[in-house]
Amino acid sequence: MNRKVTVVGGAGNVGATVARSIAQRELADVVVVDLAETKAAGVALDIYESCPIEGSASRVVGVGTKDFSESANSDVVVITSGMPRKPGMSRDDLLNVNYKIMQDVTAEIVKYSPNCIIIPVANPLDAMSQAVFKLSQFPRERVIGMAGVLDSARMSTFIAMELGVSVENVSSFVLGGHGDTMVPLPRYTTVAGIPITELLPPDRIAAICERTANGGAEITKLVGTSAWYAPGASAALMVEAILKDQKKIMPCSVYLQGEYGVSNLFVGVPVKLGAKGMEKIIEIKLTADEQAAFNKSAGAVKELVDVIGV
Ligand code: LAC
Repeated sequence: MNRKVTVVGGAGNVGATVARSIAQRELADVVVVDLAETKAAGVALDIYESCPIEGSASRVVGVGTKDFSESANSDVVVITSGMPRKPGMSRDDLLNVNYKIMQDVTAEIVKYSPNCIIIPVANPLDAMSQAVFKLSQFPRERVIGMAGVLDSARMSTFIAMELGVSVENVSSFVLGGHGDTMVPLPRYTTVAGIPITELLPPDRIAAICERTANGGAEITKLVGTSAWYAPGASAALMVEAILKDQKKIMPCSVYLQGEYGVSNLFVGVPVKLGAKGMEKIIEIKLTADEQAAFNKSAGAVKELVDVIGV
């Protein structure tokens, strides 16, 4: 294949799901890079061995972080590395640990793939995306955090469950940071083109919005660790839009410079994804309440970003 995607932290649950999804759909050759070198080799080999069955000609290779050169000239690099929060760890501890990981991996990515598009997936998502953006010194078009695709997929699932309709009919719209301050927008969320405000009473909509904002925590509580299928599929969808130059509009975390009244901060907004990365930020008019919720969410991201000083 003439396309290459590297998944850093690719031996972990989310990373392996991204790698598998890309290989299965024959979007590119895939390089799995992970600190756990043997596991990276094994996970990559297992995915590669699934390709003949899936009917894909993608090649998949797994290496340790000391062999980052394998990733050279990647078109897209997805960063799924990062520690989940452990008992006794504060939010700031987690921030600092994952910031250190972003420092290490971003240096390698920039060294070997100076023209790539980076999709950070590590948490806290918006702050880590901002860290990668600042560390890489890439233009803002080429650092695009994955969050809104996942959050809106969760919202669509809950709406489909509530109404007993196909998830394919549902198009959800979520703005803001990837955290409990995220801003689901019912006005712009539709079922076969019909706004959900026409289909569901306000209390059911409020419950769906709340469940969406707590979607990550819901899975963590059930499984005992954070989600990977939906996050992995979300990152792969973004990779596909970029590699195929689809110009698809998706909610992503990008560096705002005045859009939505926010400057110098990564926050989730609808963007157009294509071969150049983030090709356009789509600005929509928010109501006063929606703007206030968006500002609050941006404020929560700013607090995190200030802790690590990026
Ligand atoms: C979630 C984590 C991965 O929302 O951010 O599931």
